[in-house]
Amino acid sequence: MMDNDIPESEMTMTLSRGMGEAPIEEKRRAILQFKDDARTPPYSLDAPQIVIGRGKEADLTINDHYLSGKHARVLVVHNFYYIEDLDSRNGTTVNGKPIKFMRLAHQDVIRLGQTNLRFLQMDAIDGNYIKKLNLQAVQSLALAVEAKDPYTKGHSERVAEVSEHLAAMMGLSHAHVERVRIAGILHDIGKIGVPEAVLQKKTKLEPAEFELIKKHPVEGQNILRPLNFLTDILPAVCHHHERFDGQGYPAGLSGEAIPFWARIIQVADTYDAMTSNRPYREAFSKAQAIAEISRCSGSQFDPAVARTMVEILENEK
Ligand SMILES: [Fe+2]
Repeated sequence: MMDNDIPESEMTMTLSRGMGEAPIEEKRRAILQFKDDARTPPYSLDAPQIVIGRGKEADLTINDHYLSGKHARVLVVHNFYYIEDLDSRNGTTVNGKPIKFMRLAHQDVIRLGQTNLRFLQMDAIDGNYIKKLNLQAVQSLALAVEAKDPYTKGHSERVAEVSEHLAAMMGLSHAHVERVRIAGILHDIGKIGVPEAVLQKKTKLEPAEFELIKKHPVEGQNILRPLNFLTDILPAVCHHHERFDGQGYPAGLSGEAIPFWARIIQVADTYDAMTSNRPYREAFSKAQAIAEISRCSGSQFDPAVARTMVEILENEK
């Protein structure tokens, strides 16, 4: 009975959910608005299926005596909206063409009886939906690096966790702690551009090879720059190998000139490297890591961040 536009599994899932239940999966928002009548409040299309018509059986009642009781139905499937005519007396048209079932697009004009409605996809997409999509994008980017370099497997996630903990302990707001976590996940994304032979080399790197590795923070920033939702974490990605004494890369920044989030990731990143097994050395014990972090406080690390890291580790004992 329906067009084959929707994969069957999705259709079943959507149709099985009735009105009045919890909101459906997060999605773009859309409304029906009386055409050329901005004074009438718009109808929000925020349920899996909305029956439009007159009387008790319609979820949206439109006061038009040419409308059948149940006139048409709007279906919401993920980000898409479909309209189906329910064998109405006067038919349903979209942009002047009679339809039985079709997918709606922004600005489509739907005629039900004598009523003209305009379908509008709102610019404001549900925040949670976007957040979820963004996080999925972030995770898949991080996995792309790990696929290239088996030794970094789990590294991004662990650095993210430690960075998050540090950020929270250092009094950052909840929102900023979350951003630091994302910066932690993506800090090494630029390694996508480093040849595998260099990334996976088990012996000492030649100077030219080290130069290639050193490009990854700037590369990472370049890769992420087109993603607007990550603009605020670019400085953390770009400067996570700066040292507090100015001897790091890529810019040789020192002290508080290094973005704070980058100083946090610097400590978390180094801590994870110390406590992971590498082909050329055993992992540090926690006590050794504490000693090393304290030793490098003020040279490699921001002393305040180093102190917090030591506190965290000592409290874990
Ligand atoms: Fe790095």
